[in-house]
Amino acid sequence: MHRTHDCGRLASRDIGREVTLCGWVKRRRDLGALTFVDLRDSSGVAQLLFAGDVPALSIAHGLNREDVIAARGVVRARSAGNQNPEMPTGEIEVEVEALEILNRSVTPPFLVEGDGSDTTEDTRLRFRYVDLRRDRMQRNLTLRHRTLHTIRNALADRGFLEIETPVLTKSTPEGARDFLVPSRLSPGRFYALPQSPQLFKQLFMVGGIDRYFQVVKCFRDEDLRADRQPEFTQLDLELSFPRGKEEIFEILEEVIARAFREVLSLDLETPFPRLSHAEARRRYGSDKPDLRLGMEIHDLSSLVRGGGFRVFDDALCAGGKVAGIACPGCAGYSRSALDHLQEVAVRAGAKGLSWIKLASELTSPLAKFLSRETLLALRDECSAQEGDLVLILAGSGIEKALGELRLDVGRKEGLLEEGWRFLWVTDFPLFALDEEGRITSEHHPFTSPRDEDLPHLESEPLRALSNAYDLVLNGTELGSGSIRIHSRELQERIFRLLGITPDQAEARFGFFLRALEYGAPPHAGFAVGLDRLVMLMAHESSLRDVIAFPKTATGTCPLTEAPMPVDPRQLYELGLEPRGE
Ligand code: AMO
Repeated sequence: MHRTHDCGRLASRDIGREVTLCGWVKRRRDLGALTFVDLRDSSGVAQLLFAGDVPALSIAHGLNREDVIAARGVVRARSAGNQNPEMPTGEIEVEVEALEILNRSVTPPFLVEGDGSDTTEDTRLRFRYVDLRRDRMQRNLTLRHRTLHTIRNALADRGFLEIETPVLTKSTPEGARDFLVPSRLSPGRFYALPQSPQLFKQLFMVGGIDRYFQVVKCFRDEDLRADRQPEFTQLDLELSFPRGKEEIFEILEEVIARAFREVLSLDLETPFPRLSHAEARRRYGSDKPDLRLGMEIHDLSSLVRGGGFRVFDDALCAGGKVAGIACPGCAGYSRSALDHLQEVAVRAGAKGLSWIKLASELTSPLAKFLSRETLLALRDECSAQEGDLVLILAGSGIEKALGELRLDVGRKEGLLEEGWRFLWVTDFPLFALDEEGRITSEHHPFTSPRDEDLPHLESEPLRALSNAYDLVLNGTELGSGSIRIHSRELQERIFRLLGITPDQAEARFGFFLRALEYGAPPHAGFAVGLDRLVMLMAHESSLRDVIAFPKTATGTCPLTEAPMPVDPRQLYELGLEPRGE
C-alpha cells in the first residue's frame, strides 16, 4: 500500500475518495462495534474509522501508540454530533477497508502529544527521534527551514555567492576556546574547528569574490547558556568596497524583513533604529537593550550633589554618579521584594540600593538625609508618578546594575510590550580590559578603528572607538560585524597593542598578514546567529528547541552520549597519550 494523501490535508472536498494514508498511531479508542484510530503524519492528524466486520478491525484492536501503519479506505463526512471543530480534519474521517502494520513501536518514553510535563529535557533529547514528532518541534524545524531558504534566496538575489569554508582549519580568535582535532598524518599537530569563518571570508575579498555568504556551522568551547550552543549556525557574509556600514545595515534589514514577511507574514518597519554603544549603556545599562521596555535610566547626580547624603556625595567625589529608574505601579513593593532587588543590584556590582515609594504618601529611607524638595526633584527627573517606585544607585559603572533592575522589574511586572524591537548598536570601543587587566579586542582583532582614533591608538587605546556594529532584537544579541582592517601595517599595529609579538603574529596569522599585502580591497561584513533568530521568531526561549540535535548545558548529547572515551589504540595512532589518573 502506497501513500496517496497526507493526513492533515484531507478535507470535505475529498469525501467519497479512496485514499491510502501512512503514519503513526496517535491513539486508539474502542467503542463497542466501532474503533477509532487517530493517525498522525508530518502534515497533521486524520481519524480512521473501523466499522463492521472488516478484517482490518481485528488488526486495529492490536494497535498501540506510535505503531506505524498504512490504511486504505474511503473518506466520509463525520456524523453531525461527531465533528471536531478543534481539528483541521474534524469534518471527515476515513472508513478503513485495509490496514497494514509497517512497524511496531515499543511504548514511547513520553507522550508525543503531551505538553512535556511527563518527562525531562534529558529524556526528550535521549529520545529526540520521538520528540521530533511533536507538533512544536515540527513547527520549529519547518520555520527554521523556511527562514534559511528565504535568507539564501534574498542574498542570492543581491549577488552574494554561497561558498563553503574549511571545517578542519586553524584557530580564529572569537573569544572562546577552540575545539581541537588531532591529525593522524601529522602526529602531535592539531586542526581547530572554526569559531567563525572570519579569516576565510576576508580572504575571499582579497580573492575578488566581491560578495560572499554562507550558512555555516561554528564551534566554540565556552560555558553554555540557553542562548549558547557549542556548535551553532551563523549566516555569515562579507562584501568588498562597502558604502560604509550603511550598506551592511541596508542588506541585513532587507534580508530579515523578507524572512519575517515570507515566514511569519509580518511587515517589519525598516530602517531599524540605531544607538551608539555609549548611549545604550547610559540609557539602558546594556549593550543589547530590550526596547520593548521603557524604564530608561536617569542621571540624578546634579540633583543630589552636596545634598548631605554621604553615600551619594562620596560616590560623586570618587568620579561616580547617582542614577535611577522609575518602576511603574511598584509603589506597593514589600520589604522582601525590595530585598530581592537589592540582591539583583549587588550581584551586578552595586554597593546598595535606595528607593522612593510614591504611594499616596512619599516614603523613602532617603528622607532622613535629603530634603523633600530634593526627593520630589528626583521623582520628576525620573518622570515617576503616583503609584511608582524609584530605584536609585550610586557609584561607578552603576548603569549595568540599573539595567539588570530594569529587566528584572519589567519582566516580573509584565511591562514588556509585544512586538519586534530591532536595534543597531554602533560605535563600540575598539578594546576592552580582560579580567587580568590586559587589553583585548571588544569584537575581534580584524575590526578597524575609526579614522579619527588612529593617531592616539597607542597613547589612549581604551578611548578608541571601532567601526563595529551589533544587531539586537528584543534584548538578544542577534549578530555582529564591522568594517575590517585591510592594510598589513594597521593589522600589525593592532596585534602589537593586543600584546601579540611579531613572532606570535607570524605563527598564528602569517598567512593572513601576507594576503593583506596582495591587493586586499576595503571590505566589511556581518554574522547573524541563525539559531537565535529562529528561536525568537518561534517564540522559544532556548536554542535547544530550534536545533534538531542540540547539546545539553554541559555540552553533551544525551542521544549519542558524545563526547565518549576512545579506544587507546585510536589515541596511539594519533600520537596522543591518555591522561594519567
Ligand atoms: P560573533 O562572535 O559576535 O561574531 O558571532 C556572531 C553571532 O553568532 C551568534 N553566536 C552564538 N549563537 C549560539 N551559540 C553560541 N555559542 C554563539 N556565539 C555566537 C550570536 C552572535 O551575535 N566573525 C564575527 C562576525 C563578523 O565580524 O562578521 C563573529 O563571529 O548571535
